[in-house]
Amino acid sequence: MDLSQVNAPIYEALRKFRRMRVVPFDVPGHKRGRGNMELTEFLGEDCMNVDVNSMKPLDNLCHPVSVIKDAEILAADAFGAAYAFFMVGGTTSAVQSMIMYACKSGDKIIMPRNVHRSAINALILTGAVPVYVDPDVNEQLGIALGMTTEQIEKAIRENPDAKAVMVNNPTYYGICSDLRRITELAHAHGMLVLVDEAHGTHFYFGENFPVTAMAAGADCASVSMHKSGGSLTQSSFLLMGKNINPDYMRQVINLTQTTSASYLLLSSLDISRKRLALSGREIFAQTVEMAEYAREEINNIGGYYAYSRELINGDSVFDFDVSKLSVFTLPIGLAGIEVYDLLRDEYDIQIEFGDLGNILAYISVGDRKRDIERLISAMAEIRRRFGKTEANMLSHEYIAPIVSEAPRKAFYADKVSVPLDEAAGKVCTEFVMCYPPGIPILAPGELITPEIIEYIKYAKEKGCQMTGTEDLELEHLNIMT
Ligand SMILES: Cc1ncc(COP(=O)(O)O)c(C=O)c1O
Repeated sequence: MDLSQVNAPIYEALRKFRRMRVVPFDVPGHKRGRGNMELTEFLGEDCMNVDVNSMKPLDNLCHPVSVIKDAEILAADAFGAAYAFFMVGGTTSAVQSMIMYACKSGDKIIMPRNVHRSAINALILTGAVPVYVDPDVNEQLGIALGMTTEQIEKAIRENPDAKAVMVNNPTYYGICSDLRRITELAHAHGMLVLVDEAHGTHFYFGENFPVTAMAAGADCASVSMHKSGGSLTQSSFLLMGKNINPDYMRQVINLTQTTSASYLLLSSLDISRKRLALSGREIFAQTVEMAEYAREEINNIGGYYAYSRELINGDSVFDFDVSKLSVFTLPIGLAGIEVYDLLRDEYDIQIEFGDLGNILAYISVGDRKRDIERLISAMAEIRRRFGKTEANMLSHEYIAPIVSEAPRKAFYADKVSVPLDEAAGKVCTEFVMCYPPGIPILAPGELITPEIIEYIKYAKEKGCQMTGTEDLELEHLNIMT
């Protein structure tokens, strides 16, 4: 069969399968929902009917030879990749697979320190050793920027044996590094380029967005279809350039991937890829229009600063994703997390995240003009009702770490739990982060400094959701003995 972007092979196979009324003597045990009526009433029969396991007519994600293979070929084509894998373990599984492909135990990987926890988790799994590039920080906003070309050149010069360079494209806040130049530099030194594009799915389909990993010639990209791509939560793509061996990559993915991939997730990826390939331009033109409108109106409120392309400086902010509505809140005397909480508690508005100085409202084609207006007027009211003077507010979201041990060594080391206040000067064996954004404040192997302790206490006091530690209250930290 000739395939084109109007096809969605997994979705089509499921529709056909549903019509066949096959009697199930296989798992899942809910048997098309009949064995669990409360769940079926909640999710709907249509959904339970296609919650099925791998079988010949529906292919097998671990070893695709028919409809999943076809769907992967279409996805690769839509994204301009040599190959694409359907991922059902979130972008976390894509990030981890690309690092496990590139690095063995002891191999070096150059990466910005403001990576998502999934990348540092991969270092624990593989035993790879990070060469961190401390990103520049925007002093006003307190946020980490991209990596400069000079920083990459230096890291490569000092670590010619590194196996790969990892890049965020873009960061959670919308900031992009010069991905083409970084890719050229890495390739000139025989290193792979791995790109975390969790927040960049739309770059592949819209107009005037920053360059995509695949167009920049990078080797792998982890793309969160479930974020701006419209698929179900937990579904993602791992894209690959022509220099990656897809058959070995499949084996790497299968080290940690489930053998019971959800067809709800797989079909959602398939249908969403078709939708983006056919109508992505219009979808993202509308998204950008709404984000631009909201940005302008929020800046007109006064106090808030909804930033955009004016941050571009040709290097550490090489480009900016205008679909992101990132807003600096400190000038109204409130931490980002306080505005985040007020929006939900007082105005029934849930935004993506709030950290110490910023908030991010996720804009997509699913938003309606009246919802955008509601967000803008709630923010105006928050300034009027709750705004304060900007005294004694911590603003920096990023503290450059002091790395004492490789993440794996520290994670598996002998450890003791000590009260937070007694942890200064010790080496941490666990992660500490606000989630979202999930960028570690501390990762295993890093020195705990008084500045970091002050930051953690302040973030807790302001209401950030702190995660990563064994102690769920984060009153104690695990340290190396
Ligand atoms: C930059 C970045 N990379 C990777 C991930 C992991 O994605 P997932 O939650 O789909 O596993 C996230 C999640 O928010 C992220 O922000």
